[in-house]
Amino acid sequence: MFKKIYIAAFVLVLSAGMAGIKSNPVQASGEVAHPPSQEWTTDGLFGFFDRKQIKRGWQVYSEICASCHSVRLLYYRHLGEIGFSSDEVKKIAAEAEVAAGPNEDGETHNDGELIVRPGKPFDKIVSPYPNDLAARAANAGALPPDLSLITKARKNGANYLHALLTGYKDAPGDFKLSEDMNYNPYFPGSQIAMGAPLSEDGVEYAPEIADGKKATVDQMAKDITAFLIWAAEPELEERKRIGVKVMLFLIIFTAMLYAVKRQVWAKLH
Ligand code: HEC
Repeated sequence: MFKKIYIAAFVLVLSAGMAGIKSNPVQASGEVAHPPSQEWTTDGLFGFFDRKQIKRGWQVYSEICASCHSVRLLYYRHLGEIGFSSDEVKKIAAEAEVAAGPNEDGETHNDGELIVRPGKPFDKIVSPYPNDLAARAANAGALPPDLSLITKARKNGANYLHALLTGYKDAPGDFKLSEDMNYNPYFPGSQIAMGAPLSEDGVEYAPEIADGKKATVDQMAKDITAFLIWAAEPELEERKRIGVKVMLFLIIFTAMLYAVKRQVWAKLH
């Protein structure tokens, strides 16, 4: 009786394992190129945020990506965490127009548009489109996804993002590229509705954040990715610091237990 249960359980585990191996058809068919690994300051046990780089990434986001992609989980005040002063945050927020609804008398503008006001630090970073339908309508039916969590939402997110942004090429001769699509071997199916968003010197980094870096496509791709790694997990540094402390504690605790054990047993030997 028990033997049968064991065998049934074994078969079940084995078939689940096999299904797991087979469950990634895109990878199995070799359709998608593997993103090369890059070095990120946030990697490893002592990972940290390079705030100048994240500021450069914000610049790339706000000057290039923000015309199509939202970062709905971020508020202007969060930009203080990457090194902007509160005056700078106020200024950045004030450049945005926030839909404030009708005024106290229930009036909108004459054309029925909502009244807008300059943004404040407590506002959400303004999205380019009011909703997904409008976003699709402006992008030939394709939806530019919200980027707040994109580095977590994709497998090997940071490397994937960098590879996607730097990986645009001419399609091979035998590739059937659909109309309005762009060849990119890192995107599932190798064609993507987004045209290459980055081009050499697409932004101009101010000397105080440039850190001697030129705005090459590769550099901007790294910087915007660093910004999005931060956006997806602003508490990363804290998590790593706690991790290191816990490990130190465990090492010291183990040493102490060992010392106590030796002392207790010394009398018995
Ligand atoms: C002109 C509009 C436009 C701009 C500018 C733009 N994108 Fe996109 N993006 C899109 C559209 C549309 C899609 C959806 C593509 C698809 O589904 O084929 C997309 C998709 C993406 C994806 C999702 C890929 C995936 O795995 O689903 C990422 C990541 C991305 N864009 C990042 C960026 C970044 C970073 C920038 C700025 C450097 C940027 N985009 C600028 C329109 C844009």
